[in-house]
Amino acid sequence: MTRHFLDISRLPADDLRAILDDAHARKAARKGRPKGWVDADAPARDHVLAMIFEKNSTRTRFSFDAAIRQLGGSSIIATASDMQLGRGEPVEDTARVLSRMVDAVMIRANDHEDVERFARFSTVPVINGLTDRSHPCQILADLMTIEEHRGPIAGKTVAWVGDGNNVCHSFMHAAQKLGFHLNVACPPEYHPDLRDLTVGGPSVTLTSDPHEAVRGADVVVTDTWVSMGDQDYEERLEAFEGYTVDDGLMAEAAPDAVFLHCLPAHRGEEVTDAVIDGPRSLVWDEAENRIHAQKAVLAWCLAGS
Ligand code: CP
Ligand code: NVA
Repeated sequence: MTRHFLDISRLPADDLRAILDDAHARKAARKGRPKGWVDADAPARDHVLAMIFEKNSTRTRFSFDAAIRQLGGSSIIATASDMQLGRGEPVEDTARVLSRMVDAVMIRANDHEDVERFARFSTVPVINGLTDRSHPCQILADLMTIEEHRGPIAGKTVAWVGDGNNVCHSFMHAAQKLGFHLNVACPPEYHPDLRDLTVGGPSVTLTSDPHEAVRGADVVVTDTWVSMGDQDYEERLEAFEGYTVDDGLMAEAAPDAVFLHCLPAHRGEEVTDAVIDGPRSLVWDEAENRIHAQKAVLAWCLAGS
């Protein structure tokens, strides 16, 4: 069976834990080495990763490219609009062609269903690099960052404040797999989609009150109020009034609570400068950890092929 990495909700909890452990180990093993140093086991030696982007990216693009090189492999990067995909070639045909040319494919897509369709026709691993529904690679980096600074994630309380978006969905999936509590605070019309959750499961609590979500939390997380593809900027700005993560809100979390944001941030909207640049913010470690986490995902995918 080809090992795809499409959503945390579909990953066995043991595999998720193993990927996180491998990410920690790979980071530790390359301390002090230059960025281009290849990991001793080089699990992607002679392997090629294709990356297809339908949406903008800085972190995902550079971290996957660095990751495959650090595993001993190489990459080919294209935007969907440069490909025949942009002129209507079916996703299914693209998947079958690329499967003959590369060893794994990462896709950042507008429509999650397109990634699912690609994976159904691909004979090489397919990795979700963000869709309208989820962003599983991001959450691996977030969990890794929390564990580095605060120890094992199991039993912790994470507060998500803002939009119930793709990143929030992947956080919810992870909470159910790894046994941490996730308090999600969103305006009612922007609550997350619960379709992939065990409804009523103990790990995820929904509220419209950011104060309730943050009270006593170990971690406070937010993301943009207007994701790529959202058209209703003005309406959203109005709806999310009161959801800005500022010093006042952080003060209601646990005394040693940390702050995460997947970036890019919209300073003055979902977070203040004082919080994102403050002593509790781990956002730069979080961004770096995209490389280490994705190396573990790539190694896991290739090991199954
Ligand atoms: N966090 C994240 O996925 O960033 P990019 O959009 O820059 O890839
Ligand atoms: N929710 C954001 C995440 C960007 C990394 C978006 O989809 O635009």
